[in-house]
Amino acid sequence: EEPPAVTAVPQAGQDGLVLLGRVGVVDPTSLDDYRAHGGYTALRRAFELGPAGVVREVTDSGLVGRGGAAFPTGRKWQATASQPDRPHYLVCNADESEPGTFKDRVLMEGDPFALVEAMTIAAYATGAHRGYLYLRGEYPRALRRMEHAIAQARARGLLGDDVLGQGYAFDIEIRRGAGAYVCGEETALFNSIEGHRGEPRSKPPFPVEKGLFGKPTVANNVETLVNVLPILTLGAPAYAAIGTGRSTGPKLFCVSGAVDRPGVYELPFGVTLGELLALAGVRERLRAVLLGGAAGGFVRPDERDIPLTFEGTREAGTTLGSGVVMAFDDTVPLPRLLLRIAAFFRDESCGQCVPCRVGTVRQEEALLRIAERTGAAAADDIALLREVGRALRDASICGLGQTAWNAVESAIDRLGAYA
Ligand code: NAI
Ligand code: SF4
Repeated sequence: EEPPAVTAVPQAGQDGLVLLGRVGVVDPTSLDDYRAHGGYTALRRAFELGPAGVVREVTDSGLVGRGGAAFPTGRKWQATASQPDRPHYLVCNADESEPGTFKDRVLMEGDPFALVEAMTIAAYATGAHRGYLYLRGEYPRALRRMEHAIAQARARGLLGDDVLGQGYAFDIEIRRGAGAYVCGEETALFNSIEGHRGEPRSKPPFPVEKGLFGKPTVANNVETLVNVLPILTLGAPAYAAIGTGRSTGPKLFCVSGAVDRPGVYELPFGVTLGELLALAGVRERLRAVLLGGAAGGFVRPDERDIPLTFEGTREAGTTLGSGVVMAFDDTVPLPRLLLRIAAFFRDESCGQCVPCRVGTVRQEEALLRIAERTGAAAADDIALLREVGRALRDASICGLGQTAWNAVESAIDRLGAYA
């Protein structure tokens, strides 16, 4: 059964929003309405600038990836554009599966033509003529909206052999995920598109050199791509003036849990955790905040001054990841929550490498033992968890295993869990 429509955009209709400006305002099924709200001005600007000019603007904007890893987008585009091997591919990673992350869903359901336009610009800039939209299988409304938007764009000459009459060919194919968290890892995603098991590959080589079908590939998250539109319409300097020095532009934050107004918030990088929580109506008796989702880490309620930037959260010993801010009050028993996170990683491990396949099981077993002892941990349980955690972080092939101990470690060290 289809989940209810996303209404969780508390700022819908507010002036000055750069990414969410059209969400809840524009008719997501109408290309004409999209155009009436500024749609396709960025693509026209891209054709004026030429591919190298677009890459330069994106580089100058300071845009970094919004999937969670914050890699400089301009560098990624430049590296792919300069590869002599052909063809080049564009992959939009819309397999949004980090627990607590729902920003890409809101963009695709509320402003689907923006993603079609942004993918076209990214492909043009990096020399790709084929783009894949790898869409989370549990997003049926986003699928319908994107299918419709792509068909409309094709029918109106905005995709196909001669985009906007500029002699440039580009088209988009949608591939649906089948419920595996690991398929959001870009190389597992390539394997999935190619028809293989969704198992990550070792990096390097990086996709910019050897990606989908072994060819140079730009893989970008939905939110990252949608940021390219304001970069081209506002210009790189004006865009870079939003946010902070190393985390430029606006950011979408997914706020959930013990707040009165959960949803996706667009704010400039640099807002503090406390300011965001206040905006979302944080409830009393806040016990902990999970930043970055299951792959992220817990912080204490008194750490409200942490600036929500990639570097600010790193300096504070935590992570911003994909922008998850999950608030927990004292109605949520921490040991049960940690067990749930551990079960998630055990379940989602693809099993390809030993540290993760075995480590996620051992981690869950230790937490279960602790929970059965009415939540009190013996010193050897904690020592074992740390040892397993080190192996997970240091020896796993991909980010899933490398981050599987983050939440538990932060709960022990920052929240004093099991003390
Ligand atoms: P990563 O740091 O390995 O790579 C980030 C991106 O930069 C990739 O596209 C990679 O190909 C590229 N890259 C890195 N070094 C490069 C180089 N030297 N040359 C060219 N390209 C280079 O991180 P990864 O594993 O791709 O992502 C991890 C993040 O994903 C975590 O921060 C986590 O928060 C986030 N995540 C997000 C989810 C979501 O649903 N949005 C789900 C799970 C994790
Ligand atoms: Fe698979 Fe885990 Fe290894 Fe990643 S770390 S390749 S998910 S077993």
